[in-house]
Amino acid sequence: MHSNIQWHHATVTRQRREQQNRHKSFILWFTGLSGAGKSTLAHCVEEILFIRGCRTYVFDGDNVRHGLCSDLGFSDADRAENIRRIGEMSKLFIDSGGIALTAFISPFRRDRDKVRASVGPDDFIEIYCHAPLDVCERRDVKGLYQKARLGLVSDFTGISSPYEIPQQAEIVVMTDKHSVEDCAAQIIEYLEHSGRIRPT
Ligand code: ADX
Repeated sequence: MHSNIQWHHATVTRQRREQQNRHKSFILWFTGLSGAGKSTLAHCVEEILFIRGCRTYVFDGDNVRHGLCSDLGFSDADRAENIRRIGEMSKLFIDSGGIALTAFISPFRRDRDKVRASVGPDDFIEIYCHAPLDVCERRDVKGLYQKARLGLVSDFTGISSPYEIPQQAEIVVMTDKHSVEDCAAQIIEYLEHSGRIRPT
């Protein structure tokens, strides 16, 4: 794309960083409706990993949209660009040896799959936070569902904008049936069994 720009190869490689950290680096990609518990769960998983000495960071939709993506709205194109940027940012983050936990609705399969293809399947763990729309709407933590029903918020996911359910998620957590702690334990178990983190 930019023929005058070259990629610099570091002597401190991802592999060396992973060895020093004593865990693999990878992306935990939380996806689901607003109110499905993505952020809460991501922070709970991060807490467990952090206590175990892992290098972690949670990238959260609401926070990132205040800075890096403050120029973006909620049209399909803007969401695609939002996810592209988060994907690129997470890719750099895992190159630095860390574990990136991303909590974005990321409603479009195509956008999520692009990130998966770009980072490689081993480094991308899709976690579908499953909770039916009526449950999320009843929770309405931010009061946005009510506003969307009243037509005060446009393109609202689940109401006036689609959410495409993942077909190949590595992990599905039922946040409407299980506690945050149980869902987090399910994810930690997956990471241990797949050899990404050491069992305690
Ligand atoms: S995404 O679709 O591009 O992945 P993202 O996760 O960054 O969305 O942002 C979602 C958050 O923005 C929601 O949790 C909610 O607080 C807020 N929000 C504001 N407007 C909308 C909207 N139209 N649709 C969905 N979420 C919205």
